[in-house]
Amino acid sequence: MIVENPAPAENPRRKGLRLERVPEPCAVVILGATGDLTKRKLAPALYNLAVENLLPENFALIGFARRPQESAQFRDAVRQGLDQFSRSKPIRASAWERFAENMHYISSPFEDPKGYEELSIFLKEMDQKRGCRNRIFYLAVPPESTPGIVEQLGNSGLSRPCECAWTRLIVEKPFGSDLATACKLNQEIAAVFAENQVYRMDHYLGKETVQNLLVFRFANGIYEPIWNRRYIDHVQITVSEHLGMEGRGASYEEAGALRDIMANHMVQLLCMIGMEPSVAFDADSLRDEKTKLIKAVHPPPDEPVGSYAVRGQYGPGWVEGLQVPGYRNEPKVAPQSSTETYVALKLFIDNWRWAGVPFYLRTGKRLPKRTTEIAIQFKPAPHLMFSKAAVPRLDPNLLAVRVQPDEGISLRFGAKVPGPSIHIRAVNMDFTYGTAFTAEPPEAYETLLLDCMLGDPTLFMRGDEVEAAWGLMTPILEGWSKSPEPPFPNYEAGSWGPERALELIERDGRKWRRL
Ligand code: BG6
Repeated sequence: MIVENPAPAENPRRKGLRLERVPEPCAVVILGATGDLTKRKLAPALYNLAVENLLPENFALIGFARRPQESAQFRDAVRQGLDQFSRSKPIRASAWERFAENMHYISSPFEDPKGYEELSIFLKEMDQKRGCRNRIFYLAVPPESTPGIVEQLGNSGLSRPCECAWTRLIVEKPFGSDLATACKLNQEIAAVFAENQVYRMDHYLGKETVQNLLVFRFANGIYEPIWNRRYIDHVQITVSEHLGMEGRGASYEEAGALRDIMANHMVQLLCMIGMEPSVAFDADSLRDEKTKLIKAVHPPPDEPVGSYAVRGQYGPGWVEGLQVPGYRNEPKVAPQSSTETYVALKLFIDNWRWAGVPFYLRTGKRLPKRTTEIAIQFKPAPHLMFSKAAVPRLDPNLLAVRVQPDEGISLRFGAKVPGPSIHIRAVNMDFTYGTAFTAEPPEAYETLLLDCMLGDPTLFMRGDEVEAAWGLMTPILEGWSKSPEPPFPNYEAGSWGPERALELIERDGRKWRRL
């Protein structure tokens, strides 16, 4: 996260105010540059940084991938991606020309040392011509390619910074597929890169609303006293998506909802809600607190995995008025696939603040809508002096943080219905980003790429933090592998998930929020 000069402007980046630090000249090398991530996220993010004059003066983008093609073809593909996915459109001719001028492509199999030699020579030339001595290697590759590429970067000497310069590595999720593989990957990376060179990406941390959770909790004095087991009944975190596989069937088959969303994005949301305030807003203090929190999270003691971890897989159905196939009929998905596309968990946090407060988490594909929300459900007032008739069904206070879309925060409370007698109804006090701020927020990838260029790893995951998250999730995966598979598909596309997920919360006398 960048600390900007204090100023009354709503978005100092867009108003052109100076950042406290400007990134030094650098070259960003995207390994796997012909993939979807570059087209949809990375190139648009870099382009938008260029438009806002946030890229360093001497900047270069180098695509490195298997596909044989010339730099001109790479530029065309990037341009097509921008036309489709950039948040600022139409693409400005002058900004594009400046951006495209410094874009190059090297074709090589990831396992071929010659490709890295060529890259190394090219980077040296760039350094001489344009002074880009600093380097970021962005691994936008399938997870199985990561260790080999890291080794090649080490063997070719590319992992070692030039004199008076820095070299950083960005690793995309999934970071391992369980505790053992995450530890192994950490070791493989540590054999080549120092921990302070490694930036493990979880794009949720770059979302404005997720960062705002920290501001909301720790820049305001009134929430802290009630942010605990004395006042909070339970917390619900929902990451729901209406989309299905969108061509990602093959990789999703290896992942499933627990690995794809729960083990990373949702653990991060849980941290933002549950962590203790850190002594300073710096990378290590913050990540120490998050790691401490994750280590304190546990399932309900003495319960079988099936009772606190529900998995589901969608069958055919209707989403947003369209008929959609079931997961097993998606391209590149096995006809008898046992991959889960939905997970609901009930977890607890073992510390003084949260002991006994259940955290219910759910995520799924092909649910009725795309929405990410955190709901803090407070306990009811201890004594109601009003008659039962006045409060036929008064729900207790609820704080809902909408991470996306319609980003905002609302507080539900009881209000008197105007009239001669006392009738109380729940109303909402609402804050919405759209109306409070006129500036368009940057995309998560813009924030994170800029932070990496600035050498600020606060919003990236540390090795021990990732291992702690897998330490929490791996017993669930193991428990599932030992228990009989549910009768998949067990929820209809366009519904809110399997029946068992309703039971998970309803047997505690609570209900999932209707979103
Ligand atoms: C990715 C997952 O990390 O996050 C995808 O791999 C998911 O399956 C995506 O669709 C959701 O991100 P966002 O920013 O759209 O909520």
